[in-house]
Amino acid sequence: MQMNYTHTDYEQAVKVIRAKTTMQPVVGLVLGSGLGGLADQIQDGVAIPYHDIPGWPQSTVVGHSGKLVIGYLEGKIVVAQQGRAHFYEGYTMQQVTFPMRIMHFMGVKKVILTNAAGGVNKSYHTGDLMLLNDHINFVGMVGNNPLMGPNDDSIGPRFLGMAHTYDADLRNTAKQVAKAEGIQLHEGVYACLSGPNFETPAEIRMLRAIGADAVGMSTVHEALVARHAGMSVMACSGITNECIDQVDAEVETNHEEVLDAGKILVPKLTVILQGVIRSL
Ligand code: HPA
Repeated sequence: MQMNYTHTDYEQAVKVIRAKTTMQPVVGLVLGSGLGGLADQIQDGVAIPYHDIPGWPQSTVVGHSGKLVIGYLEGKIVVAQQGRAHFYEGYTMQQVTFPMRIMHFMGVKKVILTNAAGGVNKSYHTGDLMLLNDHINFVGMVGNNPLMGPNDDSIGPRFLGMAHTYDADLRNTAKQVAKAEGIQLHEGVYACLSGPNFETPAEIRMLRAIGADAVGMSTVHEALVARHAGMSVMACSGITNECIDQVDAEVETNHEEVLDAGKILVPKLTVILQGVIRSL
């Protein structure tokens, strides 16, 4: 089902948020599975439960807390989504990306997206970080793209170029911060599948063959909506598991390991994001 929001829908949501705080965020953060702990670093903030914001999709997944936190990080005002809704929860692409539109309507010009992802590249290990420099949007290729439907020309163009999706300056800053802090940071291609099941071994071998380095179930539709509205995007995957590429393997990917790895990832990701935000 396709649902197209109107400006009134966006404005109503922004009005509720503005009634809680007049702070004007300069950067938007989306904190993925098991990565919400980063919001604890935000100071002097307000936390608005998603269910208080009209139109906002609720996250039903364990590890996604469901709050919008606005406050100070490294001296900058940030708005952070602590948890996100996913397409596999039954939401439309427009619903899943409604929060990104709200960030746009709040005047946010830069967003940092994070996610938990499986490592497809054989040299990636659990607990590693990967900066996205590109993506493969399988979900979009089969017709699930948030930009489908009537285009709102006042927000962005009908046909969006994709060669600059993940901002080169933000990527360079992230790499400099990682180097200075001694944190290993891969850079690679994220493949977005719908989930909710993890991939089959044959799918993992296919993803590797076509140039994907990590795989997950989020982020690219947010990047699309953010870029459509002219926002700069940085995105970082926390590798929570090494993808299984052979049938009858002794191990099976599960959500608990994804959340457990988040605990190792949050401190490293926090350092990188803090460094990038400081530099803005
Ligand atoms: N596949 C897809 N999404 C994921 C994975 C995975 O292996 N790990 C964390 N999110």
